[in-house]
Amino acid sequence: MRLNTLLLAFGLSASLRGVQAETEVENSIASIWDDFKNAVNCGACQVTAGLGEDFMVDVFTGLCKISGVEDPDVCAGIIEKEGPALHDAFNALQLNSDTSKTLCASLVGLCKYPEVHTYSLTFPSPKPKTVRPPPSGKTPLKVVHFSDTHVDLLYEPGSNYKCSKPICCRSWSDEDAPENTEHPCGPFGNTKCDPPQILQESLHAAIADIKPEFSIYTGDVVAHDIWLVDKAEALKGLNATYSAMEKDIGTVYAAIGNHDTAPLNLFPADASHEADPQWAYDTLAEDWYALTGIPSVKSADQFASYSAELQAAEDAGQRAWLIAHIPSGVPDHFRDHSEYFDQIVQRYDATISGLFYGHTHRDGFQIAYSDYNNREWNTATAMGYVAPAVTPTEGSPSFRVYEVDPVTFGVLDYTQYIANISDPSFQTKPEWVPYYSAKADYGSKISPPLTDPKAEISPAFWHNVTVAMERDPTVFQDYWARRSRGFEVESCDDDCMKNEICLLRAANAQYNCDKPKAFDFSKRDGQEGDILLEKEPHIDCDHAGMATLVSKMAHRAKLERRRELEGDDA
Ligand SMILES: *[C@@H]1O[C@H](CO)[C@@H](O)[C@H](O)[C@H]1NC(C)=O
Ligand SMILES: *[C@@H]1O[C@H](CO)[C@@H](O)[C@H](O)[C@H]1NC(C)=O
Ligand SMILES: *[C@@H]1O[C@H](CO)[C@@H](O)[C@H](O)[C@H]1NC(C)=O
Repeated sequence: MRLNTLLLAFGLSASLRGVQAETEVENSIASIWDDFKNAVNCGACQVTAGLGEDFMVDVFTGLCKISGVEDPDVCAGIIEKEGPALHDAFNALQLNSDTSKTLCASLVGLCKYPEVHTYSLTFPSPKPKTVRPPPSGKTPLKVVHFSDTHVDLLYEPGSNYKCSKPICCRSWSDEDAPENTEHPCGPFGNTKCDPPQILQESLHAAIADIKPEFSIYTGDVVAHDIWLVDKAEALKGLNATYSAMEKDIGTVYAAIGNHDTAPLNLFPADASHEADPQWAYDTLAEDWYALTGIPSVKSADQFASYSAELQAAEDAGQRAWLIAHIPSGVPDHFRDHSEYFDQIVQRYDATISGLFYGHTHRDGFQIAYSDYNNREWNTATAMGYVAPAVTPTEGSPSFRVYEVDPVTFGVLDYTQYIANISDPSFQTKPEWVPYYSAKADYGSKISPPLTDPKAEISPAFWHNVTVAMERDPTVFQDYWARRSRGFEVESCDDDCMKNEICLLRAANAQYNCDKPKAFDFSKRDGQEGDILLEKEPHIDCDHAGMATLVSKMAHRAKLERRRELEGDDA
């Protein structure tokens, strides 16, 4: 850390410490905001440690309000719920430690990611010579994959979809009420809102029509009104969605999402922690037992499917699917954990026929390699499928149907289905129709083409798809549009394309080419966090929470500071 950064950082914390008394906080927010504008950087992020909990909550809430990044009730709700845990996390850290930089990098993008700690896992047995088995040629099974439903039990048809809150379609104020707004939400959903229950009913009917062998659901049941969600609301959401699945669909294997507890995002391993989510685990264990009939799923923590399960599968000559919420290669995933997880995947690559994820709300995939310095079709070892969301906030509601080899459980193809939310008929009766298929739409583009219905779409296949993207930008642009099912497709230039292909080729997060989001280090002399962003950090719904809030505040502070400096110059 450079000297001036250090001084600014401690300048801020000194001004904070001077006003610990509660009544003074409110009066002092404006001057703290002035200091904050000068001191938003890696160092300041880290010295937030050492402040009292109530005080930190008050200060952050005040800064959130004064920065105007969210409505005051949203500021207060999010910080009240997540602030205490964040406070504990900061206080357990040492300034300039890797952990504190990781927190500041992932939380607000204010520090660079530290290097991953080298550590080699030991396994119950050495890796055998076995390789992925070839497809059996037998008639494939159909398996449905859906994710990120986020059903809003309080969705109100006719209420305002142009509201000031992170999600709309509720009467947040009188102006938002059905009789008072010029922007009424339709009965089946809106892209500014989480979906109503009747959209879920329509989805379930469409899935039942497919008659899948079984389905997989990769988490995130609860709606995005995160400044309000408490244990009672989360439980209501979990019960409503899982009991509807049980009634409508049959066997579903599911995973917990970061929204499936309250406050969201907090999964302390320490059972004495006040945010201990055991109640969510217990509820899910019951829900999942009802959906799978697997008696061993008595409690989610007992049956968390650690790597002993993979050894057992290998010993029994079985193959395994891994189902989780957050893809291991995305920037949201801590890099150290991603590296250690990848070691497990590499060890059992012949046993794992596929990995299945959600969380991003976007259609995507990630390839694992035995050698990330040499990412080629013949080093590609495992395939992570990332299914887009049912909630329409990042594009039309969707689910997918895999064609699965009944012997090897390898994926032979999939078809993505959508209900087009831009089509006027959506509000009368959503129609779930095929959108694209992996083999038809990518298999014909690779060299040599792969269209044999009996062939697996293997890790090598998907690597070759990324090669086709590099060779022919239309293949990439088609993929890029499919990420959001053609909804509000942002332009993606050469750099953006390179980064995205790098992300697709990274099931191990340290190789995903991501730079911490809030600030771009490349433009000035590499000083951490001291650069202004032109654009407000893009806030995905899946990133919702205090991290997003703080990075928006940091961005707003930097922007105001720049305007002041420009004003001084003029
Ligand atoms: C769960 O949801 C079902 C279906 O809506 C309802 O019948 C049941 O009473 C709910 N259970 C709890 C504990 O809320
Ligand atoms: C969805 O419907 C809109 C409006 O009819 C249309 O312009 C768009 O192409 C459709 N999208 C897809 C993916 O079919
Ligand atoms: C991938 O491409 C390589 C090089 O063209 C080719 O040898 C290999 O058979 C392809 N594999 C698949 C599964 O498409």
